[in-house]
Amino acid sequence: MKIVRTVPDLRELLRPYRGEGSVGFVPTMGALHEGHLELARRARAADDVVVMSIFVNPTQFNDPADLAAYPRDEHKDAELAASAGVDVLFAPGVAEVYPPGFTATVSLHGPIVEALEGAHRGVGHFQGVTTVVSKLFGMVSPDRAYFGQKDAQQVRVVRAMVADLNIPTEIVVVPTVREPDGMAMSSRNRRLSPFERARAAHISAALWEAEVAVANGIVDAGAVVQVARKVLSDNAIDVEYLELVDADTFLPVRVLVAGPALLAVAAVIGGVRLIDNVVLHPR
Ligand code: PAJ
Repeated sequence: MKIVRTVPDLRELLRPYRGEGSVGFVPTMGALHEGHLELARRARAADDVVVMSIFVNPTQFNDPADLAAYPRDEHKDAELAASAGVDVLFAPGVAEVYPPGFTATVSLHGPIVEALEGAHRGVGHFQGVTTVVSKLFGMVSPDRAYFGQKDAQQVRVVRAMVADLNIPTEIVVVPTVREPDGMAMSSRNRRLSPFERARAAHISAALWEAEVAVANGIVDAGAVVQVARKVLSDNAIDVEYLELVDADTFLPVRVLVAGPALLAVAAVIGGVRLIDNVVLHPR
């Protein structure tokens, strides 16, 4: 595996593959875990060259403390990326991505950026994501790019961006990789104490309860959300939001669960903000 830090070095390495084979791309912020590695393995299976980026993107953090606390361990990340079959690790510095004088932004509008994470972290969050992802796509020119369902709204936003801007990259979505107790893997989980980590398992448990309710024929939106809310409140989980939205439009589902609906949750445990989601399919 090669590690590169500049766009010219990256382009030079990828030049032989242009038009010859497919370039698969896995954008990350590092602190790699099995979720990230699963994206890399999927790319390894489908593409001729696999590029992973590690860049803790300052523009998508609304909270400077959260950015400062973001775990960084490039040495370990490089070992893990190589073990998952990554060929090229692109780890640019902030000035390579945002050189002095940089002013461009890519922003989308409407419910898919304004709902859920947009409402709670601010619309600037997704503007940070779309700006950096479009820049990374410009640097890597991937045929396919791999994203995790763990960040369901990010997937929807990236898909919209690629469609709106005619970016010739296929977006591949990989199911959320979970710990044995159901907890969605996240770089933030390592900031939880063992006690907090055990409590955090109730977040995914709450989503499964709602899924079971829908499987059992409950289609009243309020009742479905209430099933999950009860699990969270019974376990004294500090919920930032728990919302049911249309899986495509991200408009609230308030009355009946009629089509695929995303039940998304953000909760704070021990000062660590955790998100998870499940897509509910009424019978
Ligand atoms: P990061 O949080 O590092 O996540 C990188 C990718 O890994 C995302 O597509 C995310 O959805 C996926 N991922 C994280 N945990 C996962 C899990 N448990 N199962 C499956 N996939 C998982 O998301 C970002 O970075 C950034 O916003 C980025 C896209 C890199 C732009 O800065």
